[in-house]
Amino acid sequence: MTYPRKHLLAIEGLEPPHIADLLDLAESYALLNRSGKTQRDLLKGRTLINLFFEDSTRTRTSFELAGKRLGADVINMSVSTSSVNKGETLLDTASTLNAMHCDLLVVRHGQSGAPSLLSQKVDAAVINAGDGTHEHPTQALLDALTIRRHKGRLEGLVVAICGDIAHSRVARSNMHLLTTMGSRVRVVGPPTLIPAEAARLGVEVFHDMKAGLAGADVVMMLRLQRERMSGGMVPSAREFFRFYGLDAEKLAHAKPDSIVMHPGPMNRGVEIDSAIADHPTRSVIGEQVEMGVACRMAVLDVLARQLPRNS
Ligand code: NCD
Repeated sequence: MTYPRKHLLAIEGLEPPHIADLLDLAESYALLNRSGKTQRDLLKGRTLINLFFEDSTRTRTSFELAGKRLGADVINMSVSTSSVNKGETLLDTASTLNAMHCDLLVVRHGQSGAPSLLSQKVDAAVINAGDGTHEHPTQALLDALTIRRHKGRLEGLVVAICGDIAHSRVARSNMHLLTTMGSRVRVVGPPTLIPAEAARLGVEVFHDMKAGLAGADVVMMLRLQRERMSGGMVPSAREFFRFYGLDAEKLAHAKPDSIVMHPGPMNRGVEIDSAIADHPTRSVIGEQVEMGVACRMAVLDVLARQLPRNS
């Protein structure tokens, strides 16, 4: 295992062997999970704290399950966003967590960079579970694992990431991971929702779904992150669906065996049509959730190996 860091704060900066090793380990956990077996001694005696300053269903329960499957003591702390006073509260929280001798700290926060700041103040290994519009590294890992299981590889695949790219930490982590692993990444959306940095990240930009989806192996849809938008960046939901919502007609431009992904939560009828979201062969949205647990087990495993042994 070649993972080089104490924390997992971002995909940016990881190299192909680090990512490939994490995915291989996650694949072995996916098989273990399907077999119904567990490995409860790996994190025995370790404490994992889920510290969520933003709402979450999938990610929080997924980390909880991953920690429990490996035998950790898991504590969930939800902090409402309104009580967050930026740096100060965070640093107070950090000293509380340190006093509790937490080993693994999973953090979701509305501000980009918050997990990184915490990682400098706590002894625990910190995992970023989504920070503002910055990154969501375990989501990119689970997306990559799902793609690899269906396509057998990442290299050379055409992946179209569609919708609200600008506000999406999922898109950002995926752009880093997929370009690092040799995929050809396209971002598709209205100009207001494409970040200026897209070109620097080595992705192709499209404003038209038909052109952006042409010949794609993977179509990844994203939610409109209205909570992170200032002012009217998009027309009405109906108008958005007409131009950018994934329905059978638009999907017909992608490869016939292309897969459809969505990190959730979905807004049916806004960025994706229900018939596509529930499509029995094309949609892999359920499998993404399953792979999420496996990837988080792999990340917890790798980070825990580097922690000092419990006294
Ligand atoms: C995403 C998130 O929170 O960044 N959800 C997730 O983790 N599965 C995407 C979103 O909120 O739209």
